[in-house]
Amino acid sequence: MENGLYRLLIDSINSVPSPNRAGPRIDGDLTNADSCLYCHGTKITVSGVQSRETGLGAMEFPVMSGWPNQGVGRINPDGSKGSCASCHSRHEFSVEMARKPYTCKECHAGPDVPAFKVYETSKHGGIFSAVQKEWDFKNTRWTIGKDFTAPTCAVCHISLLVNEDGKVIANRTHEMKDRLPWRIFGLVYAHPQPKEADTSIIRNADGLPLPTDFVGKGSEKFLQTKEEMAAAQQKMESICLACHSQSWVDGYWGRFANTIESTNSATFSATQIMTVFFSNGRGRRLWSFCRWPVSTKKIDTADERMGREQESSEDQGQTIYYAIKHVFRMEMVDGPLSRLYADSEGAAMQARDCGRLAGGELTS
Ligand code: HEC
Ligand code: HEC
Ligand code: HEC
Ligand code: HEC
Ligand code: HEC
Repeated sequence: MENGLYRLLIDSINSVPSPNRAGPRIDGDLTNADSCLYCHGTKITVSGVQSRETGLGAMEFPVMSGWPNQGVGRINPDGSKGSCASCHSRHEFSVEMARKPYTCKECHAGPDVPAFKVYETSKHGGIFSAVQKEWDFKNTRWTIGKDFTAPTCAVCHISLLVNEDGKVIANRTHEMKDRLPWRIFGLVYAHPQPKEADTSIIRNADGLPLPTDFVGKGSEKFLQTKEEMAAAQQKMESICLACHSQSWVDGYWGRFANTIESTNSATFSATQIMTVFFSNGRGRRLWSFCRWPVSTKKIDTADERMGREQESSEDQGQTIYYAIKHVFRMEMVDGPLSRLYADSEGAAMQARDCGRLAGGELTS
C-alpha cells in the first residue's frame, strides 16, 4: 500500500490486540480485502498461470491475488484503476440499478460514511421511497419533472440531466469531484477536493501524506483552487436550481459553508486538546495516537487499572484513556482550555511539532 497513512489506519484497526503487551498482531491481506478494501479496492496482481480442464479442452487461467474485488479504487493488473462493477453489476449493467440509491448504499451506509443514511432521512429520500414506482429509471435523456421529481444520488453526483424542454442541465460524469467543491470528511479537516485521484502523492506543510496540516491549513499544491471549487459548486447548484428557487438554493449553500467553518473549528479545538497531552511529556508515545481507533474494550480494561500503571504502561488503550481523562480533568478543574493556551499560535506550533514527530512513521 503506497499511502503510508492508509497503511497505518488499516494496520491499527485490523490488527489483533495482544493481551501480553507483545504488541498488536498485524493481520494479513485476506482480512484487509474483506474489510477496508472491500469498498476501497484491492490491488490485483497476477503471479502466473494455471491450466484447467474446460469444455473446450485444457486452458490457461491467471493466478491472481487481491481477487475477487469490486472496490471503487481497485488497481487492476494493467495499471488501470477502478471497478465498473462497483455500481454496474456485471451481467445486468443496468442504468436503472445505477440510478437507484441502493447501489450506492453498498458502500455509503455509515456510520463513518453516512451518505445513504443522510439521504434516507431527507425529504428527497422520503419522496423517492414514496413515489419512485411512478418514475422512469430507464430513459437515457433522464428528464427532470417528467421521469422523476426528486433527486437520487446519481441525479446530484453522476447523471446526464435534461429539463422538459430538452435543455441539458448537467452532463454525465463518472468523476465525483466534478460537482463537489469540498471533501467534507477530509483528513482531518474538511478541505477542497484533491486535484488527483491518487492521494498518496499529497504532502502537507509538515511533509505528511495528509491533505491538511494539524492546524487545518490545506496542502494547496495538491488541492483544487478556489476557482475550481466555485466551478464545481456552480455545477451542483445548477442541478438544485432545476427544481428549486434561487433563494432556497443560496440559503442552503450558505448554511453548508457555515457548517464547514464550524466543524473545522471544532476539529481545531480537538487538536488543541491533543496538544495539551503531547506537551505533557508523553510525546514519545505519539504513535499511539496515530493508532488511536483502539477497541473500547481495551479502554475499559485500562479503566480498572487506573492510576497504578499510568507511568509505566506503553499500552495503547491506556495511553489514550489517560489522555482523555487527563484533559477532561484539567477542563473541569482549571476551566476552559483557552486559559491553558492563551496563545493559540503557541498551541498550533506544538501541534506542528507533533506532526513532524509522527512523520517518520507516517511517511516510511
Ligand atoms: C462499507 C464500505 C467501506 C469500508 C468497509 C471502509 N471504507 Fe473507508 N471510505 C468509504 C467511503 C464510501 C469513503 C468516502 C465517502 C465519504 O466520505 O462519505 C471512505 C473514506 C475513507 C477515508 C478518507 C479518504 C480520503 O481521501 O479522504 C479513509 C482514510 C478510509 N476510508 C479508510 C478506511 C479504512 C482504514 C478502512 C478499514 C478499517 C475503511 N476505510 C473501510 C467506504 C468504506
Ligand atoms: C460510482 C458508481 C459508478 C461506477 C463505479 C461506474 N458507473 Fe457508470 N454509471 C453510474 C451511474 C449512476 C450511471 C447513470 C448515469 C445517468 O443517469 O446519466 C452510469 C451510467 C453509465 C453508462 C451509460 C449507460 C446508459 O445506459 O446510458 C455507461 C456506458 C457507464 N456508466 C459506463 C461505466 C464504466 C465503463 C465504468 C467503469 C470504468 C463505470 N460506468 C463505473 C455509476 C457508476
Ligand atoms: C464498492 C463501493 C462503492 C460503491 C458501490 C459506491 N461508492 Fe462512492 N465511494 C466509495 C469509496 C471507497 C469512496 C472514497 C474513495 C477515497 O476517498 O479514497 C467513494 C467516494 C465517493 C464520493 C466522493 C467523496 C469525496 O468527497 O471525495 C462520492 C460523491 C461518491 N462516492 C458517490 C457515490 C454514488 C453516487 C454511488 C452510487 C451511484 C457510489 N458512490 C457507489 C465506494 C463506493
Ligand atoms: C440533492 C442532491 C444530492 C443528493 C440526492 C445526494 N447528494 Fe451527496 N452530496 C451533495 C452535496 C451538495 C454534497 C456536498 C458538497 C461537497 O462536498 O462539496 C454531497 C456530498 C456527498 C459525499 C461527500 C462526502 C465528503 O466527505 O466530501 C458523498 C460520499 C455523497 N455525497 C454521496 C451520496 C450518496 C451515496 C447519495 C445517495 C444515497 C447522495 N450523495 C445523495 C448532493 C447530493
Ligand atoms: C429533481 C428535483 C430536485 C432537485 C434536483 C433537488 N431537489 Fe431539493 N427537493 C425537491 C422536492 C420535490 C422537495 C420537497 C418539496 C416539498 O416540500 O414539496 C425538496 C426538498 C428539499 C429540501 C428539504 C426541505 C424540507 O422540507 O425538509 C432541501 C433542504 C432541499 N430540497 C435542498 C436541495 C438542494 C441543496 C439541492 C441541490 C444540491 C436540491 N434540493 C436538489 C426536489 C429537488
